[in-house]
Amino acid sequence: MSEKATIILDGKSYELPVFVGSEGEKAIDIAKLRDMSGYITLDFGYKNTGATTSAITFLDGEEGILRYRGYPIEQLAAKSSFIEVSYLLLNGELPNQRQLDEFQGNIRYHSLVHEDMKRFFEFFPNNAHPMGILSAMVNSLSTFYPKSQDPHRPSKDVERTIFRLIAKMPTLAAISYKNNLGHPYMYPDNKLGYVENFLHMMFGMPTEDYVVDKDVASALNTLLILHADHEQNCSASTVRMVGSSQANLYSAVSAGIAALWGPLHGGANQEVIEMLEAIRNDGSDLEKWVNKAKDKNDPFRLFGFGHRVYKNFDPRAQIIKKACDDVLKKMGVNDPVLDIARQLEEIALKDDYFIERKLYPNVDFYSGIIYRAIGIPTRMFTVMFALGRLPGWIAQWKEMVENKEPIGRPRQIYTGAVNRSYTAIKDRK
Ligand code: ACO
Repeated sequence: MSEKATIILDGKSYELPVFVGSEGEKAIDIAKLRDMSGYITLDFGYKNTGATTSAITFLDGEEGILRYRGYPIEQLAAKSSFIEVSYLLLNGELPNQRQLDEFQGNIRYHSLVHEDMKRFFEFFPNNAHPMGILSAMVNSLSTFYPKSQDPHRPSKDVERTIFRLIAKMPTLAAISYKNNLGHPYMYPDNKLGYVENFLHMMFGMPTEDYVVDKDVASALNTLLILHADHEQNCSASTVRMVGSSQANLYSAVSAGIAALWGPLHGGANQEVIEMLEAIRNDGSDLEKWVNKAKDKNDPFRLFGFGHRVYKNFDPRAQIIKKACDDVLKKMGVNDPVLDIARQLEEIALKDDYFIERKLYPNVDFYSGIIYRAIGIPTRMFTVMFALGRLPGWIAQWKEMVENKEPIGRPRQIYTGAVNRSYTAIKDRK
């Protein structure tokens, strides 16, 4: 930290340390600025504010780079499995065979949910959104495992909570789907891999043998890897923020699920398909919808376009676009909604409005298309995103706890009424 920044306020100079990350990113450390000068910094939406230092994920939005623990996303997506990537995110290194077998074994061991939990599902309305159910159920897990209440318990207990979360999330997600259909729940089949087991619980029936399609499992494995972490986004920051109060990990992840649900974050994948369906039902006049997205007086946006940090291309979208083409070809899918997606992408990429603002299809644009092709219902799309993001959230939480970070507590600049006296109700206008 030899470099310094000088800031001049009210004619006085203050010297502030500069923090340099391992990839050369630079930050002015303003932690002491208020004590020194009385000033704080103001940055709506944290567009230019680092909330922490982190050794998990590196992202360069200008260059379209994404790496987990130093490994390029392109290599992980092509060569790795979601479980291996989960191990990497949580532990910092790729596992050897013994470590991977042990990790996988621990996750398999915890895949069942307490039988009493199944009863919770009966009381949700039939049309309950699966993200609302998932968030509630993950929070409920903390009531079944009281030892998880203390994030500073011996590391074995913390580890068990992590295994339980990774193991039970797919089971809970699949039960919420079956419940919605009124179909019997499928128990996990621990002979299967993580992704295959999830597909078995989603699409299997007790009355028949369900054979997992290898191409579908492989596409889903890729999608989960691409979603596994994305540094300090809205949901990861929420997990860290909630966890910083020393609330238990289940509650922190439950809050992360709620944050992900929003249409400007993970909820965009559901919005993409709903938007494409609306365009089709309206007569497929793409120009009209693109113009609506460009109109400042119209709140409509093209979902699946734009990203807070990727301003040239989203590397995940490039990988997924290829996976998307492969899956659609292999499955022989012929879907007019997907044709609209292709045309929309083509039109938007040539339009000056989108070019000038650097708005490109993001990962959600294509992930929704793949989910639809493999039979996942639209309302489950964001649940799929949550399944993928889970190891990232846990890794972010773990790092925050291990680094002994203080409770998150931003400041504000007050803009409301200044001091005034209470008036009796009879004297008010
Ligand atoms: N359609 C039309 N115009 C858009 C879009 C869009 N999808 N996204 C941004 N713009 C425009 C804005 O109106 C703004 O225009 P202006 O400069 O003329 O005022 C400009 O582009 C910059 O937009 P901001 O909202 O300032 O960009 P920000 O970085 O804050 O937002 C966000 C990023 C939220 C992702 C935005 O692009 C968006 O709403 N996209 C649609 C939702 C979506 O796909 N979300 C998924 C994100 S990926 C993820 O969470 C995994």
